[in-house]
Amino acid sequence: MIDFTLTSDQELIQQTAREFAREHLAPGVIERDDKAEFPNEQIKLLGELGFMGMMVPEEWDGAGFDTVTYVIAMEEIAAVELATSTVMSVNNSLVCQLFVDYGTEKQKEKYLRSLASGTKLGAYSLSEPQSGSDASNMRTFAQKDGDHYVINGTKNWVTNGINSDIVTLFCLTEKGAGYKGITAFVVEKGTPGLSVGKKEDKLGIRASDTCELYFENCRIPVENRIGEEGQGFKIAMKALGGGRIGIAAQALGLARAALDASITYAKERKQFGKTIGEFGAIQNILANMATEIDAARFLIWRAAKLKDEGKNYIRESSMAKLFASSTAMKAATDCVQIHGGYGYMQEYGVERLMRDAKITQIYEGTSEIQQLVIARDLLQ
Ligand code: CAA
Repeated sequence: MIDFTLTSDQELIQQTAREFAREHLAPGVIERDDKAEFPNEQIKLLGELGFMGMMVPEEWDGAGFDTVTYVIAMEEIAAVELATSTVMSVNNSLVCQLFVDYGTEKQKEKYLRSLASGTKLGAYSLSEPQSGSDASNMRTFAQKDGDHYVINGTKNWVTNGINSDIVTLFCLTEKGAGYKGITAFVVEKGTPGLSVGKKEDKLGIRASDTCELYFENCRIPVENRIGEEGQGFKIAMKALGGGRIGIAAQALGLARAALDASITYAKERKQFGKTIGEFGAIQNILANMATEIDAARFLIWRAAKLKDEGKNYIRESSMAKLFASSTAMKAATDCVQIHGGYGYMQEYGVERLMRDAKITQIYEGTSEIQQLVIARDLLQ
């Protein structure tokens, strides 16, 4: 049965997230973007609300919600500050989910509890300078040495790389074995041999941090391995499959913010003796924007529901991300266009939407990678 009605719990979460965003994110959002200032206080509060481990079972100090509830919250947070929703997304759908799915009891005790309750922050480190879309082409190597691994290599574009306490890391443990030589690990910040690069200066989501991580003879105990040797690529891919639903929800929130700003402005701004909303040209843009936003939401909810039902959702997750991210980019660009000269100015807050939207077409798999995942599934 198709049912678009939210449960009372979901309505409550939506309301809570909306109020949180209005009260704690809206003030200072332009300044944080301008100064590239990490939303420390806001992330702490999100943790207290249970929003940093939304899909983690309560027995591990998470909120115990399903994916549909998670994307509803994500839309609200992203509608006000995409950068904060990025920090939230990585911790929830990449890092916590990975421990839920693959962590040992000991790892869950040691890491998942604090990640889910928001007292610690996680990062997910897969990409390297030469391996972005071609994720399995990595070089970082973890050499087994008795009951330890010794890691050497460079990772890049690590979201939360600076502010995180815990890094889930993917390395080769066998050279020349392709994706079958990749293994997942958890590395704590402060481990000797792990150093953190400078904060990258980015086009958008500037308040979130992104950096390189350098591993130089970084020794970690064998108990920090997640899953078995050689299982790492599948672990990484499974996490990304779920993560992409969250990124789609981020894109949706941003697109909705663009629509809301466009409607408000179209009703206020007068040119040639009438509001610009009275012109067909503007009406057409608004109508298309609203239609695409609803279509994106339905794709996202479908993917989330499939995941919650334990069904295969990989194609649907990629479809949701592909469509929602292009909707966000288009909506943000149209929003700036509707605002004209004012839209180009920082104080109106809509040029940030345009800069922020772009990343949703790039991270956790570019649009071209989503097309590849969808097409492979269609043709198999
Ligand atoms: N779940 C489980 N297993 C999966 C899977 C999934 N979603 N996707 C692939 N696999 C399995 C395949 O079934 C295959 O196993 P078998 O041989 O047993 O069938 C194995 O993994 C290898 O798969 P492929 O042959 O498809 O691998 P590939 O090298 O051709 O390409 C890819 C796969 C889809 C292109 C992949 O490399 C990919 O997703 N690339 C994009 C990487 C990406 O999203 N990076 C973002 C990094 S995180 C980030 O953005 C930063 C951040 O902090 C937010």
